[in-house]
Amino acid sequence: MPVITNIDDLKRIYRRRVPRMFYDYCESGSWTEQTFRENTTDYEQIRLRQRVAVDMTGRSTATQMIGQDVAMPVALAPVGLTGMQNADGEIKAAKAALKFGVPFTLSTMSINSIEDVAEATNAPFWFQLYTMRDTDYVSRLIQRAKDAKCSALVITLDLQILGQRHKDIKNGLSAPPKLTPSTIANLATKWTWGLEMLRAKRREFGNIVGHVEGVSDAADLGAWTAEQFDPALDWDKVAKLKEQWGGKVILKGILDAEDARMALKVGADAIIVSNHGGRQLDGALSSIAALPAILDAVGDQIEVHVDGGIRSGQDVLKAMALGAKGTYIGRAFIYGLGAMGQAGVTSALEVIHKELDTSMALCGETSVKDLGRHNLLVPKDFGGVWQD
Ligand code: GLV
Repeated sequence: MPVITNIDDLKRIYRRRVPRMFYDYCESGSWTEQTFRENTTDYEQIRLRQRVAVDMTGRSTATQMIGQDVAMPVALAPVGLTGMQNADGEIKAAKAALKFGVPFTLSTMSINSIEDVAEATNAPFWFQLYTMRDTDYVSRLIQRAKDAKCSALVITLDLQILGQRHKDIKNGLSAPPKLTPSTIANLATKWTWGLEMLRAKRREFGNIVGHVEGVSDAADLGAWTAEQFDPALDWDKVAKLKEQWGGKVILKGILDAEDARMALKVGADAIIVSNHGGRQLDGALSSIAALPAILDAVGDQIEVHVDGGIRSGQDVLKAMALGAKGTYIGRAFIYGLGAMGQAGVTSALEVIHKELDTSMALCGETSVKDLGRHNLLVPKDFGGVWQD
């Protein structure tokens, strides 16, 4: 077992093990990838305020997200095609999250189905919903998530149409991969991945195939999205979905204070400040730069979470100190999953936990609940919206 000391260690192994098509899917942003890049580099602009000679015994990273106890404020984000990164990837990631005590969010575009994950974990998880034109299908999905005892519905609002990621088009991204001379050549170098995948429970979109009439092949994510996702989604529809679900609702993909106010109006329990990992509107603000204005607008009335660009516990610390009540990792856990399956996801969580705990101590804090803007030094022009 290699010694893993940081998330980049996992990424290096991940890159070697997983077919190019799925590595590229994970590692891409849309168009020029400016927003994708700034999601990570903007964290570097924020400096932590070091304090010394403060009693740092008895530390805790435990807190709550939407009223649920979490070992640290880091949930696993919904990631499409997770089960293509590693066989039964959603089940493995959900198990790692459950053991660690953090929420797992299953994507609509997962490989393992809602039922697969529920059966394998026997514990509540969060379900992420894409709204489709076929409202009967959406109603059935919501019912399936209820039957599986999912404890929150995460409704994604920023993907009514798909942002273009050049590599996915060039690679002919699909699940399972289509066999062309170039995919065969690449798959031939990924033996362990392939052997494990032969034994996987599923190799296609588990929430879709067999559940939508007339659809036996939803392999092409781009085509499926263009054909099925609802371009007419609006706040009235969001309110109806919330009513239909009847439980906790988290709205994902909010990047603007006006939209955050609308989320508040429809009665969401939390919002996720997100630009979809830099995969949708290229040129949009990074999530961490967008966070302060949204917190200023609604932070005292609704729980504000953030995702995008988080690769370390220091990043989590910065987001929490700005005022977020929770964070999500997507790529950081996918690197672990692709590198080493369930153990890799656990490793990613351990790395981030250790970084968060140690850095928190070096900031002179003993609980994530006490973090605040007093822990940060932020440049005047950061996001153009907040300064100390
Ligand atoms: C969503 O499914 C994405 O590919 O970003």
